Amino acid sequence: MYYQKLDEFQKNFLWGAASAAYQIEGAYQEDGKGLSIWDEYAHQPGNTFKGTTGDVAIDHYHRVEEDVALMAKMGLKAYRFSVAWSRVIPDGEGDVNEAGLAFYRKLITLLKQNQIEPVLTIYHWDLPLALQKKYNGWGSREIIPAFEKYCRTLFSAFKDDVKYWVTFNEQNVFTSMGYRWAQHPPKVTDIKRMYAANHIINLANATAINLFHELVPNGQIGPSFGYGPVYPLTGDPNDVLAAVNANDFNNNWWLDVYCRGEYPYFMLKQLQKAGIAPEITADDQVLLKSAKPDFLGINYYHGGTVQTNRLQKPVKEAEQKDFSATDPYLMQPKADQAQSPEVPMFNSVSNPYLDKTAWGWEIDPVGFRVALRQVYEKYRLPLFVTENGLGAVDELVDGKVDDQYRIDYLAQHVKTMKEAITDGVEMIGYCAWSFSDILSWLNGYKKRYGFVYVNRDDDSQKDLKRIPKASYYWYQQLIAQNGAQI
Ligand code: BG6
Repeated sequence: MYYQKLDEFQKNFLWGAASAAYQIEGAYQEDGKGLSIWDEYAHQPGNTFKGTTGDVAIDHYHRVEEDVALMAKMGLKAYRFSVAWSRVIPDGEGDVNEAGLAFYRKLITLLKQNQIEPVLTIYHWDLPLALQKKYNGWGSREIIPAFEKYCRTLFSAFKDDVKYWVTFNEQNVFTSMGYRWAQHPPKVTDIKRMYAANHIINLANATAINLFHELVPNGQIGPSFGYGPVYPLTGDPNDVLAAVNANDFNNNWWLDVYCRGEYPYFMLKQLQKAGIAPEITADDQVLLKSAKPDFLGINYYHGGTVQTNRLQKPVKEAEQKDFSATDPYLMQPKADQAQSPEVPMFNSVSNPYLDKTAWGWEIDPVGFRVALRQVYEKYRLPLFVTENGLGAVDELVDGKVDDQYRIDYLAQHVKTMKEAITDGVEMIGYCAWSFSDILSWLNGYKKRYGFVYVNRDDDSQKDLKRIPKASYYWYQQLIAQNGAQI
């Protein structure tokens, strides 16, 4: 750190925490809710850790008052949550389910009564199952009018109460996990289909942003992207070039479209040469250019390190398996996906300077500053950190959870965010992942992120009691002092 003194956080900085509908709500068939692709996927044997599902999750649907009361006591300034599309429109495109809307209205009202700014994510991966079956989900352009109707419903219902909106959560993660690594629904391993679906989602994103600007002129909207800076393993120019390539494949491919309305030239050319580029019409180009996000949501967990492919073949099988099975942010092609143009261009490797979490995710607070700097400098949009946190096994001992390791992790990241602000990055807020313990998509209830412990595990829902962890009280202090102690 090269500053004598860091700038303070602005007065209205939004200290928040985040969640997603499928991971917390439960009540998966209540009050008219339709099924989502995750409801089906998690019920199929072998797809999730110990067969865990979101059927009950942490039962937030029935405990929303208690959960918001804990947020208020903590002093939270913002709460990011997602809406389950199939709760609001059970079949994805037909009649609106008023009971579903009423749940979110209740949540938003409770938040506002407690001066907590709601941050609403429109899509956090739980596509209505009916749309998957009818249109092949994001595989067909026919889904776009359904998404537009869903957005219109939410914009009309909540335009006066919700200022900050997120369109898609981590489009890079859910398209690659769903269409490439077959670890999320629709469980496909086809790179061409991944790029095709991704393009359709880009069109849906642009459509939503334009509609929003028409209907909610005083609000702000943007996508949340899972960003990780890419480092070269060494100063070998070949490794540096590998990092430039990886940055295009892992970051620019999405961010350039969101923020500049066009695909990066180099990568598009590679995909075209390999015959796996999406079909982009002239109308598509006009639409993508027309939609401008007001801010960019950044989810930061870690970056990635790459080297040139000296052997002209992917890294050893065991290492790849490890990466793709546990870490959606590392998009290292497997041997059986050798048709991907990435294979000769870069290989993901471990960074020798960084420690890892129990799940093998690198802990890299400096990378957070690098990320914020890179993205802000390139796109000049205000940034909103919509996720950042540590997944760990937490132990309840004598009714308490001493998660000092989480406090250390968060404190380091908040500090580097403060440094990035001092560097000149414009930031709206920071939502830690997650407010309470939640269902991890693929790691059940074992991998915990919350400030609030939820007394349940993979085998039993127990009593679902909420128990604030040590990190809860630490964050409470941090918010009270607006981060001045960091
Ligand atoms: C992000 C998602 O990718 O990472 C969250 O937006 C998710 O929904 C979080 O829970 C942590 O992932 P995991 O696999 O550790 O639960």
